[in-house]
Amino acid sequence: MTLTRRFAAAYGRGPAGVWAAPGRVNLIGEHTDYNDGFVLPFALDRCTAAAVSLRADDRLRVASLQQDGAPVEVALSDVRPGRPAGWAAYVAGVLWAMRGAGHPVGGMDVLVDGRVPVGAGLSSSAALECAVALAADELHALGLPRTELAALARRAENEVVGVPTGGMDQLAALLCVEGHALFLDTRSGQAEQVPLELDGAGLRILVIDTRVRRSLGESAYAERRRTCTEAARALGVPALRDVPLADLDRCLRSLPDPTVRRRVRHVVTENSRVLATVVALRTGDWAEVGRLMTASHVSLRDDYEVSCAVLDTAVEAALGSGALGARMTGGGFGGCALALVAAGGVGGTQNAVRRAAAQHGFPEPDIFVATPSGAARRLHE
Ligand code: GLA
Repeated sequence: MTLTRRFAAAYGRGPAGVWAAPGRVNLIGEHTDYNDGFVLPFALDRCTAAAVSLRADDRLRVASLQQDGAPVEVALSDVRPGRPAGWAAYVAGVLWAMRGAGHPVGGMDVLVDGRVPVGAGLSSSAALECAVALAADELHALGLPRTELAALARRAENEVVGVPTGGMDQLAALLCVEGHALFLDTRSGQAEQVPLELDGAGLRILVIDTRVRRSLGESAYAERRRTCTEAARALGVPALRDVPLADLDRCLRSLPDPTVRRRVRHVVTENSRVLATVVALRTGDWAEVGRLMTASHVSLRDDYEVSCAVLDTAVEAALGSGALGARMTGGGFGGCALALVAAGGVGGTQNAVRRAAAQHGFPEPDIFVATPSGAARRLHE
């Protein structure tokens, strides 16, 4: 049954439309977005769809095909940080952020079909927020630029849900173009589409979902963020983005705490790896892309300390099986890794990664070939 028909069954009338937004992986540039740095994500072909119709009052009803029970119902005037609790906050938060910015947004009925795995580090939350933001924008004929919708979706997550994420995921969900990675300067907001010509190069990117959900991820994320803000203050710069690679050693010498030094080193070197990856993609130097991916993983593992045994095992097994490069992607502490492999090596890497997981007693990973896909859009069901 289509989502439209399910909506009618749930709410007794058809939706005004169905909007969908994709999950994403980040090719490189991890934990740089909240340091005003560079990122290079691309959208996946796994989307979250939201069937939506407007209501005449200010109530929000929201249900999901992936959740049992009656729709969650809340008056928009009751939405605030921490309320509603649970997954409905992603939807309510977007409407709250839009109203807070002065946009005339009223109540809605929403039915969600979330096809982006939750808790896998593939940005299922940004996909949901952005599908709803685009729906509200179109249904109220607001005509907001997509960068503005991304900022509002991020506010929902930061303030109503209460997770202090950077802005990469929402921008990826709203700006990515099929067949491209999105090179983003998170300070200026400048975005450039970089062709990801994997087919032409005989390559594939494998997404390895370890099926280990991010435990402890949220508090560690907030803690890393705080450390970066304090380090920037200690170094007298607005953000770690402002520490040039050439100045890194001098800056590190001025920081007394070895942990803080490692965190700073990750952010500064990661920013330079993103820039180098963009150059390598433009020149078709895939060996260099792979090398940079692996260097990023090592930095996240040893300096930023956000990897974990299950991610390290997947990365090592992929590299051992001949991958050009491999790394964890997303916030860390579980979730997904990426491997850049020759098209003919997909099966070998899949087997090697599965075997390594089994040997360590880890869950069997879900491995799929990534298809760089387009951003949020209205579906015509
Ligand atoms: C999570 C956050 C992003 C980003 C990554 C790490 O996915 O939502 O904003 O900080 O972690 O790169």
